[in-house]
Amino acid sequence: MVTSSGKTSRTRKQSLTEERKLDHIRICLEREVQSACPTGFDDIQLVHNAAPEINLSNVDLSCSFLGHKLDAPIIVTAMTGGHSEATSINQNIAQSVEELGLAMGVGSQRAAIEDPLLAESFAIARESAPKAFLVGNIGAPQLSLGYGAKEAQTAIDMIDADALAIHFNAAQEAVQPEGEATFTGVLKAILTLSHELSIPIIAKETGAGISSEVAKSLVEVGVKAIDVAGLGGTSWPAVEVERAKGEDTQKAILGRWFTNWGIPTAVSTFEASRTVKIPIISSGGIRTGIECAKAIALGATLVGVALPVLGPAATSSKDVSEHLDTLILGLKAAMFLVGASNLRELNQVPVLIGGNTRNWLELRGWGEDLRYLAKRTAP
Ligand SMILES: Cc1cc2nc3c(=O)[nH]c(=O)nc-3n(C[C@H](O)[C@H](O)[C@H](O)COP(=O)(O)O)c2cc1C
Repeated sequence: MVTSSGKTSRTRKQSLTEERKLDHIRICLEREVQSACPTGFDDIQLVHNAAPEINLSNVDLSCSFLGHKLDAPIIVTAMTGGHSEATSINQNIAQSVEELGLAMGVGSQRAAIEDPLLAESFAIARESAPKAFLVGNIGAPQLSLGYGAKEAQTAIDMIDADALAIHFNAAQEAVQPEGEATFTGVLKAILTLSHELSIPIIAKETGAGISSEVAKSLVEVGVKAIDVAGLGGTSWPAVEVERAKGEDTQKAILGRWFTNWGIPTAVSTFEASRTVKIPIISSGGIRTGIECAKAIALGATLVGVALPVLGPAATSSKDVSEHLDTLILGLKAAMFLVGASNLRELNQVPVLIGGNTRNWLELRGWGEDLRYLAKRTAP
């Protein structure tokens, strides 16, 4: 079976990649892969308005993101592609976001950039969602290892993407047995890409958050939106613990140590939104409509969800829509209860921050902003 011909060894490598992607999906569906560390949203309170002077039915969730209109400020963030089982998952998510007027990111397109035979599992997203805002996805480590405009454009063309996400997954690469923890030169490569591509670049973490300092650096290299994907939701070190079990003991131990590593989502949303002027996507452990409302009140333009959509997406687009619709209803209810009839108003309501989130932010020098957010009054 194993010959010296390039063709045979190429085929074998592809099947290992597919296996890894499938592993990720199955582990995420079947095991507990969320960090035990809180997102910080429990430390945040919005002030109840007993006399909101608006009707729930009039609450308007429409918004604009990178020049595109959305019916609600929600993106289903990158999860999959690159193997046959991913096709129906991407199709179900895409059909649902098209129907609800939301946005969607596909998973890392590296496998299909390297093997066009796998492109259909991504292309199905655009086929199923001709009008939706779709985000392509490549990894920051690949930029360090030589990916450039050609590979980025292949990813974009595969789904006729409206934006390209570059994912930052240093924590995952550091603990993954076959990890590529190579980040040297990534910012410079993004600067070059930002001049070469005709669509905006989104910088995206994958569960460990983005600090104010990194947000600033990303803007300086031409990034047009940031998905903070903070700590408190899906943890890639936790996924790798499940994969590494019994295979690579040291990496499994590292995975356990780093499961709670990172910047909690609420902190990261606050820091990024208060630092840069580009749209911020708040994600990482966002599970309820109230958390969506808190994220937007903190300054986010959109909220992102991944893991909670995976189970429904493995079943049907109807299940995905039911899940997302509940999130939308919850967000609307929270807005009604603070008297915000649209997202601009929600963005201006008072926000009270206590607990560890406050400690973190005070230690980082955000005391004045904390006081401002608590006292500001919606117009
Ligand atoms: C099964 C699965 C696969 C993922 N694959 C990718 C990926 O290929 N690229 C990426 O940028 N993020 C990927 N992510 C990370 C998510 O986009 C998101 O940032 C992270 O899971 C935090 O959100 P959550 O807590 O709502 O899951 C993946 C997440 C899951 C659950």
